[in-house]
Amino acid sequence: MTDTSVSGRRILLGVSGGVAAYKSVYLARRLGDAGAEVRVVMTETATQFVGTQTFAAVTGVEPVVSLFDDARSVSPHTDLARWPELVVVAPATAATLSRLAHGLSEDALSATLLATTAPIVLAPAMHTEMWDHPATQRSVSLLVADGHELVGPDEGHLAGGDVGAGRMVEPEQIVAAIEQSLAAGFDLAGVDVLVTAGGTREAIDPVRYLGNRSSGKMGHTVATVAARRGANVTLVTTSSLPAPGCEVVKVESAQEMAKAVSAVSCEVAVMAAAVADFRPANASDDKLARTEGPPKIVLEPTPDILSSVVAREDPPLVVGFAAETGGVERAVEKAKRKKVDLMVYNDVTAAGSGFGTDTNQVVFIDADGGTRPQELMSKTEVAQMLWTDVHHMLVQD
Ligand code: PMT
Repeated sequence: MTDTSVSGRRILLGVSGGVAAYKSVYLARRLGDAGAEVRVVMTETATQFVGTQTFAAVTGVEPVVSLFDDARSVSPHTDLARWPELVVVAPATAATLSRLAHGLSEDALSATLLATTAPIVLAPAMHTEMWDHPATQRSVSLLVADGHELVGPDEGHLAGGDVGAGRMVEPEQIVAAIEQSLAAGFDLAGVDVLVTAGGTREAIDPVRYLGNRSSGKMGHTVATVAARRGANVTLVTTSSLPAPGCEVVKVESAQEMAKAVSAVSCEVAVMAAAVADFRPANASDDKLARTEGPPKIVLEPTPDILSSVVAREDPPLVVGFAAETGGVERAVEKAKRKKVDLMVYNDVTAAGSGFGTDTNQVVFIDADGGTRPQELMSKTEVAQMLWTDVHHMLVQD
């Protein structure tokens, strides 16, 4: 069994400047009472809300506020970044989220966040207008794509008597998120994993293609989460999204994807790509001219990449994805026909689910056709659940 408790774990608490910083004192105490070793790094602004002495009293260690506090260390942020098994930032203000999303290292907290390889859990807290602002939402999308976990925010009372979305979740919920992240830990250490991601492009001529709406977010998140859990990940993708910790093979068409996949040996294959089923049989070498009228495009089938992986002499454990519009039944049929160990059905008709979104509403379909519907959740949470399932299957083997 994986140890889900925080007992004995090294946890770095990042505190940025918001009124919710007072709750972080309780969070530090909760973690300490549960047996965790806690250190604190704060922004200057955070010290306006809670004094360093309060955290020092609760954790037994003076918080780090400046990169220039400690005369004994020439590089306090990298020293601090190497220490924790997990970093939690609570509250994570709009400024802190934005700095991390854009790689800015202006203070001890943001420099440490950039320098650490430990998983990062972020508990946002800000006014509703700031949370809803497209700039903040852009940062959130980048952070999720980079594989960071967000817990909250909730709706409720905010500073200044306002009520709305942006309230930091309660410390108990943050502890639960930390436990989940730690439990995931390194359970895939050393496992060779292949992930496909993104939508393929099938050339009509040198400038036009047949494509689909896949952004690659789901596949890249699956790959990044696996890498974070210790797997050796090869990601074959059409997308330019980041994939920290993964070996990335960039492709465009189904044919290129099939070739790249055939060169990868693996114990687990997760096929999250939206692969074109058909491609133009005779792509033109020259750009088609409008003056010649609408072209007649004859289509031919592309290689079924997933089936070729299932048909290997020593097949890996295979997870397929299915994006359907007519309900889960077709995906169940597909799971059985394609003989996958697990199929993830995305409801592409539900709001916030499927193509291009940061969230997804999925049904896990087991090899025997059994279905496990899930609530709408972040793609990171879907990826975590997927890998927890895969890990169980691997240890049962
Ligand atoms: O990328 P995002 O914007 O985040 O969106 C995520 C997603 C909706 C694209 C993704 O989660 C998803 O559902 N991917 C599968 C899309 C799909 O409908 O696949 P399919 O039903 O055509 O194929 C079923 C399975 O066979 C898939 O695992 C697919 O990768 C694989 N396949 C399909 C055709 C083919 N020629 N080769 C394949 O390997």
